[in-house]
Amino acid sequence: MQRLLINAGPIAHLAGEGPIVGHLVESDYVSEPGLAILIEGHIIVRIGPTEDLVSEYSQAEILDLEGKAVIPGLVDSHTHLLWAGDRSREVSWKQQGMSYSKIAQNGGGIGATVDPTRAATESELAHLGVERMREALRNGTTHLEAKSGYGLNTDTELKLLSIAESLSAIERLPSLDLTWLGAHAAPVGGSIENYVEELLSEQLPAVLEQGIARSADVFCEPGWFSVEQSEDILKASREGGLDLRIHIDEFVDGGGGELASELQVTTADHAHYTKLDTRIKMHNSGVSTGFLPGTPYSMGDDYPPFAECLDNQIAWTIASDFNPNCRTLSLPFIGSILVQRNDISPISALAACTRNSAITTPHPSGLIHGQIREGAIANLNIIDGPWWQSWCLQPGHSPFAATILEGELIFH
Ligand code: NIG
Ligand code: FE
Repeated sequence: MQRLLINAGPIAHLAGEGPIVGHLVESDYVSEPGLAILIEGHIIVRIGPTEDLVSEYSQAEILDLEGKAVIPGLVDSHTHLLWAGDRSREVSWKQQGMSYSKIAQNGGGIGATVDPTRAATESELAHLGVERMREALRNGTTHLEAKSGYGLNTDTELKLLSIAESLSAIERLPSLDLTWLGAHAAPVGGSIENYVEELLSEQLPAVLEQGIARSADVFCEPGWFSVEQSEDILKASREGGLDLRIHIDEFVDGGGGELASELQVTTADHAHYTKLDTRIKMHNSGVSTGFLPGTPYSMGDDYPPFAECLDNQIAWTIASDFNPNCRTLSLPFIGSILVQRNDISPISALAACTRNSAITTPHPSGLIHGQIREGAIANLNIIDGPWWQSWCLQPGHSPFAATILEGELIFH
């Protein structure tokens, strides 16, 4: 089937090769109003002036955008999608000034999500997953990276990955890219050393045998997994054929950035307290810096120095980090934190959760995503108005009238 979107407003297409670095010139990435986009099946096949495409493709099903702005489908490159339970009680602990590690010692944090997740049935977890993916889609996300990590034993980690795989087969929901995060924390009451041994001898081999996860991740942070433990887990994962990601420097500069560079992982996330020379070293090793500003927002902390990446030509991304401590799946909200609280331009923030993030989490079709260009997957968002900048200027509301997901039109 051919679908022709006509009379587009400005299209923030972000087309090009590789990650976008440095301060952007808006006009390089946003086209003038009046274009049409031809979609055949699930692929964008032509972009050109409306008059030309209307006369050339008169058989296509036409959707008149009446000047509405268009941006790519958003790509959320860091989520903890599947877990059960509710940690709302922790808000008062945070307001009393308890740190994240104090909250964990007090019976909260990751450990408090593990019991309800282990106790939940597969259908309860699948239901939560579907609801969350719908919420992400309402907010313009067409693809999510999704981690396990709230099982912390082999059975439940495998269960989380297998449920996520079944969700990825459901139509009219965002696509998923799955990551094993068994190394998220030691189970409550167990030692981290014993757990690392269990990860290496039992959990990782079982995950490899299951064959669902594409990547492995580790929470490398003083108090959780040390740099040495993270190295062992990541190296063994790579030997097993997994791609690598890592959580680093969420609360302090813990040295994880050096490891990220040495192993040339795909993305080093949080990277809040990473030193500039380490960021540069990571970039030169092909590692993307992944900022997760929803977490400091939820914790009442300061934001990381986003502009350092722009000023130093460093490839970077932003993502939701959706998890029980940071319960947003809205990338437009995350964009608002950058633009309305941190003086980052709307085009730079958009690049960080489209073209740049897509590079760290490939689409299962193998096609380009996170950009609007010929040959890319037809994932795009139609903004309910003529200004593309408004993608990140309505926190708490989805700015989108509709999303085209792999060629299918979904009205919100
Ligand atoms: O990326 N910091 C480690 N993991 C998650 C939070 C997990 C949790 O608090 O449940 C994160 O922020
Ligand atoms: Fe995370």
